[in-house]
Amino acid sequence: MPRTLAVCYYPEKWPQTLWPEDARRMVEAGIGRVRIGEFAWARLEPEPEHLVFDWLDRAIAVLADAGLEIVLSTPTAAPPIWMLDRHPDMLALDETGRPRGFGSRRHYCFSHLGYRAEAVRMARLLGERYGMHPGVVAWQIDNEYGCHQTAMSYSAAAREGFRHWLAERYGDIRQLNEVWGNVFWSMEYRRFNEIDLPNGAVTEANPAHWLAFRHYTSDQVVAFNRAQAEVLRPLCPGRTLIHNYMGLETGFDHFTVGVDLDAASWDAYPLGMLEDRVPADTTHRHRYRRQGDPDFQAFHHDLYRAVGRGRWWVMELQPGPVNWAPYNPAPLPGMTRLWALEAFAHGAETVCWFRWRQAPFGQEQMHAGLLRPDDRPAPGLAEVRLTADDLKVLARMAPDLATVRGDVALLVDYPSLWAWEIQPQGAGFNGFTLLFEAYRALRRRSLSIDIVPTASDSLAGYRCVLALGLYTWTDAARRLLGTTDGPVLLGLRTGSKTPDFAIPSRLPPDCPDWLDIAVAFVESLRPDGGPALAGGGRIERWIETIEAGPQVETLLQTTEGAPVLLRQDRFHYLAGWPDATGFDGVLNQVIPPQPGDLPPLPTDIRTRRLGPLHVVLNYGPESVALTPWLGPRDWIIGSQILPPAGVGVFLTRRASRTGRNPSVPATSTHAGPRQTL
Ligand code: GAL
Repeated sequence: MPRTLAVCYYPEKWPQTLWPEDARRMVEAGIGRVRIGEFAWARLEPEPEHLVFDWLDRAIAVLADAGLEIVLSTPTAAPPIWMLDRHPDMLALDETGRPRGFGSRRHYCFSHLGYRAEAVRMARLLGERYGMHPGVVAWQIDNEYGCHQTAMSYSAAAREGFRHWLAERYGDIRQLNEVWGNVFWSMEYRRFNEIDLPNGAVTEANPAHWLAFRHYTSDQVVAFNRAQAEVLRPLCPGRTLIHNYMGLETGFDHFTVGVDLDAASWDAYPLGMLEDRVPADTTHRHRYRRQGDPDFQAFHHDLYRAVGRGRWWVMELQPGPVNWAPYNPAPLPGMTRLWALEAFAHGAETVCWFRWRQAPFGQEQMHAGLLRPDDRPAPGLAEVRLTADDLKVLARMAPDLATVRGDVALLVDYPSLWAWEIQPQGAGFNGFTLLFEAYRALRRRSLSIDIVPTASDSLAGYRCVLALGLYTWTDAARRLLGTTDGPVLLGLRTGSKTPDFAIPSRLPPDCPDWLDIAVAFVESLRPDGGPALAGGGRIERWIETIEAGPQVETLLQTTEGAPVLLRQDRFHYLAGWPDATGFDGVLNQVIPPQPGDLPPLPTDIRTRRLGPLHVVLNYGPESVALTPWLGPRDWIIGSQILPPAGVGVFLTRRASRTGRNPSVPATSTHAGPRQTL
């Protein structure tokens, strides 16, 4: 499949006389696709049922005539003001009960069936008009579900919907009382319609109540998306249905939403996200302030490749400073190209910059585009051109540019992330950080990673499978872990709750067929220090005390002798939250290095295999000479000296022909000057 560059464009913001020139300049920069329409409802239907589509007809014609493929969005993330006259109760309510009012976007409640019907109506109108247009190749449904904390709503519609959902799930109120443990604090209900949303309780509500509400909320997002997908699918045959998800958004189960679409995409703002959501300390933020976190983008590329079942895009990419983070610096020159090439290295089909021209009005007037408000090129535009040239080189060497299967599988499960948020048991703890730190450790080993949902078919063939912090053993998760044939790393809090948030009677990790161990009790630790690990590193945040049967071996322990990594046959259990050095030690035990592995590379360097190619990225502010680590290579882009924000691509064929990595001596499993294995 050919890889494409794209840009987000808002024809409704610019005079029609500008459109042909904009389209020409896009094509000239190497852009092949353009995403439009996601906030245009008020211009398409300025009054209820009064449709004004002629401008969109013209915009689509101009863009298509210039040779651009169009990604048309349904504008349902920004309903116009008159919608509130029709549906005064459609607004979402925040956790304090305050309506999320009109005046920006995403003010609708996912549970409001009247608004859902309006969204479907608009999707149908657009689908009927443009579904068969040869220039429209993909449809984005809505925009960034959950953005601005909008997945959860505490409205009357949500309360009504939740009660029905509970009645359907539990059937009998006595059953709900039983599995939630409502005997505790006299919380027993007599009828489903006595149950309120969990935000109003005096102190913490029952975690089972919260978890049920998180499941319910996610189901509303799924239903909202599905309703539009179902109406669009027959109207636009052969076109890609897609949604643009976000970085570190856990409000709903993305895998379940993804089932109704053809591909996934996400909006990558590496600098904004480093400042406002990447779990990292100040030193790290300072070092990468103009490059973005070196692993955050890759994690989400791998996540959304899984959500899209192999097909995924970047729908928005940062081209310069944004306006919404605590600090908004400009990217280091070269970074916008690096971010795009990294996405292609992880298998993206399209990388789309946000946005074409900086709008001098409205909330995002301080957010860069590829053009300045005065129409002159902003620095990002030159990097789009360079990326277009790189893509031609890559396409010559590896025509389909398909990413390869990863070495290692990392399980991600949204209900587990909700459970961590509901019961962190320590200030600031969350499941995402645990998974992300594991991901970082795998990348330090230069391994390529696949993120996998628990609803997958098989995990056979991976060098290792990681299932960390997987709260509940659903049938699907047990079945999936049963398909592994290599080492498996289970770990802290895995199997620690029933589906209704109680401690399982056998105690965690509750998988006696694989591991004869029980977590006797857990401790959460202050951030200023847990026990040291024999062999290097420390435990932070969390430690479990384990009782183990005779066939269980201890592979790593604290200096005081408490087991931290245990093993029975292929199954390993991690009984604490290690720091970075500790994680390296754990992985070296569970995934021993093998011939052909790249060695661990310098701190700022990241790699990803792409068919016969290896893509190497320098996230650091200094140049790095790679020969001591990689030996001589056939570089097709860049060279062994990577400047700051530099990208190098080498052909791996030579290495695989000789059967070994040139930097690894034939007699050794160790490699490279910084080899710590
Ligand atoms: C995204 C959103 C865009 C734009 C962008 C600014 O979250 O989808 O519409 O607001 O952020 O960075």
